[in-house]
Formats: sequence, C-alpha cells, structure tokens
Amino acid sequence: MNQKLFELAASFIACFLLFQSCEKKLPAYGEDSHSFSRPNEVAVKHIDLDLSVDFQARQLSGTARLTLEHNSRAQELWLDTRDLEIISVTLDDDSSKVDFALGESVDFLGQSLSVKIKPTTKAVNISYKTSPGAAALQWLAPSQTAGGNSPFLFTQSQAILARTWIPCQDSPGVRITYSATIRTSPDLMAVMSAENGTERNEDGVYHFNMPQAVPSYLLALAVGDLEFRAMGERSGVYAEPSVVEKAAAEFEDTEKMMAAAEKLYGPYRWGRYDIIVLPPSFPFGGMENPRLTFATPTVLAGDKSLVALIAHELAHSWSGNLVTNANWDDFWLNEGFTTYFEHRIMEELYGKEHADMLASLSYRDYEEELDRLGAESLDSHLHLDLKGRDPDDGMTSIAYDKGHFFLRTLENAVGREAWDEFLSNYFDEFAFKSMTTEAFVAHLKSHLLKGNRTLEQELQIDAWIYGPGIPQNIARVQSAAFATVEGELQKWQAGTAARTLTTDGWTTQHWLHFLHSLPETETLSLSQMKELDSAFGFSSTGNSEILHAWLLHAINNQYAPAYPALEHFLTSMGRRKFLRPLYTKMAENPAMLQMAKLIYQKARPTYHSVSTGTIDEVLNWQE
Ligand code: BES
Ligand code: ZN
Repeated sequence: MNQKLFELAASFIACFLLFQSCEKKLPAYGEDSHSFSRPNEVAVKHIDLDLSVDFQARQLSGTARLTLEHNSRAQELWLDTRDLEIISVTLDDDSSKVDFALGESVDFLGQSLSVKIKPTTKAVNISYKTSPGAAALQWLAPSQTAGGNSPFLFTQSQAILARTWIPCQDSPGVRITYSATIRTSPDLMAVMSAENGTERNEDGVYHFNMPQAVPSYLLALAVGDLEFRAMGERSGVYAEPSVVEKAAAEFEDTEKMMAAAEKLYGPYRWGRYDIIVLPPSFPFGGMENPRLTFATPTVLAGDKSLVALIAHELAHSWSGNLVTNANWDDFWLNEGFTTYFEHRIMEELYGKEHADMLASLSYRDYEEELDRLGAESLDSHLHLDLKGRDPDDGMTSIAYDKGHFFLRTLENAVGREAWDEFLSNYFDEFAFKSMTTEAFVAHLKSHLLKGNRTLEQELQIDAWIYGPGIPQNIARVQSAAFATVEGELQKWQAGTAARTLTTDGWTTQHWLHFLHSLPETETLSLSQMKELDSAFGFSSTGNSEILHAWLLHAINNQYAPAYPALEHFLTSMGRRKFLRPLYTKMAENPAMLQMAKLIYQKARPTYHSVSTGTIDEVLNWQE
C-alpha cells in the first residue's frame, strides 16, 4: 500500500478509536448552578457510610467512602458540603492523610470540598461530623414524639440539603448506589431509603444496602422508637408503636395503588414500597424517598380521605426517582408528572367522580398560587430560572398544578391511549436517567406529535413551559359533585339553616370545596361562623385539611371561638403547607399579628428549618 494512503488510513482509525473512547469517557452531566461538583471530571458512583447517631450532641459522625469514576485526567474530586466538619481524608486503603480544601462559604450552597486524587484513585474516605444545626436533620426531643419516651431523628435532603449530612455530589443529575452502617442506641430502630429490616437489632447497629442508583436528594435516614406492620406482599408501614395501627389502616389501599400504577406505566422497579409516618414536625406532606416514603401524621384522617398523598409519593417511583429532573430548574418534570400520575392512580382506585374533585381542587391551588406570585411572575413558568437563589424559594405549586394541567391538556389532545403508551415508553426509555425540559420537549415532539405541526401549534408548548399564568388552551375539569356543593352553599346564603342543608355522604373533598367557596372578601358575621361551626363541627375536626381551610376563615373573620383550635394546630404540627397560609393570613391583619408572633415564639423551636425559613420571612422574624 502507498505510504501516504497507509498513514491516512492509520490516522483515520486512530481518530475513530479516540472518538469512540471519548464518547465512552464523556458522560454528559448537565450544568447545575446549585452544585460545586464536577462529575464530568470525576463522578462519585457509590457511597458507603458508617455513621454514629449522637442525640445528646445532635450530631452524626463517622466516615463516607466515595467510589469514583474518572471521566477525565483531572486530579481533583469536587464535592458539596454545608456545615460539615471535615476531620481527615484518605485515599483507597492507604491510611495516610491527603490534602483537601474547603471553598468559601456561599449562602445556602455551602462550601465546595476539593480533594487531591490520582487518575488511579478508586475511592476517597472522608471522616467528618455534622453540625447540630444541620439543615437536613431534625433532632426531636422525646416530648415531640407520639410516645414521649424516646428521641427521634429524621433527614430531609431535597432539594440541596443532603450536603449538610453527607459530603457528596449534591446534584440531581448524579446517581449513586449506597450502603450504610448506622450506629444508634439499642432501644431505637434505624431505617433508610434502602433495603430495610423489620425488626429492632439488639446492638443498635443497622446495615443498609441500596442497589438502585439514586440522586443524592433521595438519601434518607430516620431513627426512633419504630415498629413495622405489613400491609401487603410488597408494602408495609413504620411508625411509633402508638401510631402504627392507625397508619396501617389508613394506608390499606397501598398495594392496590401499586397495582394501578404498574398497570398504567410499567413495573415498579424498587422492590418494596414502605411508608414511615414521622412525628408531626415533618415539614412536608410526604417525601418520595425510594423504597420508603416519609409521611406526615397529618394525613391520618381516620377515613382514608387524604391518601392521594400516598398515590403522589408512590407515583414518584416513576416520575422523579426513575426519570429525574436534571437540575432544579426542571423541577416540574418531577412534580407535574407526579401530580398527573397521582390523579390517574386515584381515578383507577376511587373512580372518575372522585378524581374530578381532586382535579378541581388542583385547579384552585393553581389559581391561588398565581394570586400569591402574581400572574406574570417568572416563577409561574414551568421551566424555572433558580440560578443564584435557594431552589426552595422557586418550588411552588406551579410545578405541581400547572404541570399537571399541561399533561392533562396533552392527554386530551392526543387521546388517553396514545398518551399512556407514550408515557409508559418515556419511563422505560429514560429509567435511571436524568431529564431536562428541553430533552423532554424534543422527545415529545418526535415520539408523540410526530411532526404534526397543527397539533404542535394548538398545544402551545412554549406558552406552557416558558410563559406565565394559565395558557388559554387548558383542559379544564368540571366536577359535578362540586356543583351540588355550590347549590347547598347558595341555599345557606339565601337563608336556609346550615344544619338542614343536604350534606349526607359528603367527603373531605366536598367539605374542602364548601369551605373554599365561602366568601373571602366580605366577612362572615360571628353568628354565621357560629352557625356553621355548630352545624358541622369544623373547629373540632380531626381532618387536617378541613381544619386548615376552616381556620383561614376563622382568621379572616376574627372568629375568636376557633382561636384555641388555631393555636393548638400551629403548635402541634410543622407542615409548611399549613403553616404558611395561616401565619400569612394572621400577619395581614394588624389585629392578629401579635397573636401570630406569640404562637410562633412558642412553636418555632419545634419546627423544622425548612418551615422556620419560610415563616421567619412571613413574620419578619429576627432571632
Ligand atoms: N418531593 C416533594 C416534597 C419536596 C419538594 C421536598 C421540594 C423538598 C423540596 C413531595 O413529593 C411532595 O410533593 N409533597 C407534597 C405532597 C403532595 C401530595 C403534593 C407535600 O409535602 O405537600
Ligand atoms: Zn412530589
């Protein structure tokens, strides 16, 4: 062969091989403005934790061994930390300490941790302690639990709080498997978002394994006086002994929900689905920690009427945990899809009339959130721009309710059959991967709309995703049941006595609509409020959602007989969804501001940092 030609061929082959290996070596982790990590250089693939739980010092301490994947020849590993005390760092199985550097501390992002490594380094071992004020951790005194005898610890890692208890690449685009040893006292039980045991260990030492790769925001731990009750083949509930029976009864439909979800969108890929009911200070309704949903006890209404929350967290096992928002600007890909999926599960289990009520309530939440944010707010776009902000600030109901209605609008346009098939394939194709809004839209166009320009235009995708407010093509939902509720309300307003209204068979959702439809701008008189209260017992209801909706009216109308119930509610649970509207309404009324502050002073030490962060702002609170 001619020498030149040979060289050309050889360099062509070399280029090709290089290109191939480059392609293999460059997993394109996307940009994430909320993480200091550089996974495109070196990515963490597995974390092995060994942590001791010290309730006295309010501290976790021990080691994290991070297994690496080298995607470049970079000689540094970049991690996220916040309020961690890094004691020492070693490489592989060598006990000699190596250099590390903590970067400047940035508000809510914390500090980068960079460690000098070699291209051959397989693992980095970090010995560290958390701070007593670590934002992800809530340490509860025995008095803050149902049993009152044992302390309790739980974590909340979403959105960017994992770094306050584990040095990690705290970006939703980076996935890891993990294992852990948790050392606590023998009278307590530890559980994680991993394979869990069902019995207490005699030595208080628990071993965990999480074989599926998950983003850091799904790392979770709870430690307390826990007991387990099986509910079905694949599901059960953990809670304090005095709560576990009630919880198992409330969530008895879990197994059916799993079956419905699988029928809709493919296999449940996480083995078991268990739920832990936490003490009432848990700041959220639920948190979709894989294999082990964390839930508020305020969902235990006694009649299963608030279990949409379980459908929601279960749905995250597909939308969010399986196909994960690549960064927090794409949060709607987690929550909008999940809210849509939640409604579909609820429809399968409890029928269309019930699901229509839920959809109607979601529409109202959407409108309310727009009221709060302003109809033109950038935070009312589905795709967010959270750079330079605490992601928590931009995570509003928009992602949930606007996201849900966008997907409903898509379903309506193409029909349920084609839409469901598309969604099933989407979860399958992108399982255990991350997703950006852009990539989703491209996938939607190529796999669902398939070049149908008219349809594409009708859908107004850009208005939904990159625009504010409520796009005009929204697929609205009419609830027939709610129309009858409005009829009864009108009768009352026209003079019919409250106790003679036809309310037989009304569910929690009927009552919520009744309360939402009561006038808000003009006030109700003391005697009107009294009449409603004595006819329907709102102030003494054990249903947290109904109580919350009623108390907003109590504040609005300065209905003093409900103040003890208001104070009790605010001092007995810490769920932000309830706290924020109640404190906000009180703060709006000069006559009630003082009372709000007095209650908050008392309650604040019992709230989680997620909630105090929000309420401090509402009340302009200075510590
Ligand atoms: N993943 C969220 C909770 C969350 C969101 C935590 C953002 C931190 C940052 C969870 O799935 C959720 O949406 N919970 C809702 C309940 C649901 C029924 C709407 C809640 O807590 O209110
Ligand atoms: Zn959610």
